[in-house]
Amino acid sequence: MNTENIKDVVREKYGQAARQARSGTTSCCGNQRTQDSCCDPITSSLYSIEESGEVPELALQASLGCGNPTALAELKAGETVLDLGSGGGIDVLFSARRVGPTGKAYGLDMTDDMLALARENQRKAGASNVEFLKGDIEAIPLPDNSVDVIISNCVINLSADKDRVLREAFRVLKPGGRFAVSDVVVAGVVPAELRKNVELWIGCIAGALRDSEYTSKLAGAGFEGIAIEPTRIYDLEDARQFLAGHGIDVDAMAPQVAGKFMSAFIRARKPEQRD
Ligand SMILES: C[S@@+](CC[C@H](N)C(=O)[O-])C[C@H]1O[C@@H](n2cnc3c(N)ncnc32)[C@H](O)[C@@H]1O
Repeated sequence: MNTENIKDVVREKYGQAARQARSGTTSCCGNQRTQDSCCDPITSSLYSIEESGEVPELALQASLGCGNPTALAELKAGETVLDLGSGGGIDVLFSARRVGPTGKAYGLDMTDDMLALARENQRKAGASNVEFLKGDIEAIPLPDNSVDVIISNCVINLSADKDRVLREAFRVLKPGGRFAVSDVVVAGVVPAELRKNVELWIGCIAGALRDSEYTSKLAGAGFEGIAIEPTRIYDLEDARQFLAGHGIDVDAMAPQVAGKFMSAFIRARKPEQRD
């Protein structure tokens, strides 16, 4: 699979997810506030009940992230935030509330149906300091040094060119700007068979970086102050759930990956400008 093939498959899958959310036929997963019984261990129960009340129900139902970046990003009034792969817009709407009317929250996504869903959620939320942009996270359509904080929720692992994404994030951040991202990462080595599985790639698993790779790629892009904090570690039962139905021998593979995949909060900073 080359970069464009992966993008096409990702766009197709998330376009379908957006259409299902808009038609109210999202089967089970997405974000569930309380009913965890049948849900994806990665995307379920990411937001508190209080936070859930801050956004339209449709935005919550369409949530496909793996963390809660705005809860950890320490956003301040007046800041400009960019969400890479904004999906149905949930984290953009949270950001817009945190930065207030003097700030701005951008969402960037390549999938038309997701952008339509996000704009519908923006309208329902009455958020005027929000703008959804169409484009690729590998070529961000914003000027150099224009953003205070980059957030993202379970998207960078989907890119086939992560170095380019991180260089672009660095370019658009202002000096001193923060990178504050939730993503799936791998601790240790996972079987090659799993890495090659396209469905697991689009499900945020097969394309995930090792924690050490994430750190070195961020440093390579110019970032400093890099830290990776696990927020949810996936055990044997979780591994069984996310491996099921992808043509994989679950009994053989789940014990090999249990405890090695985690959702994590990844922080880094663009250095201040030096004279
Ligand atoms: C797993 S969903 C996460 C959506 C959202 N961040 C959330 O938490 O609900 C991934 C989103 O990223 C978008 N996406 C994936 N790869 C992308 C890329 N290379 N450029 C732009 N958007 C991308 C998809 O269209 C989809 O909306």
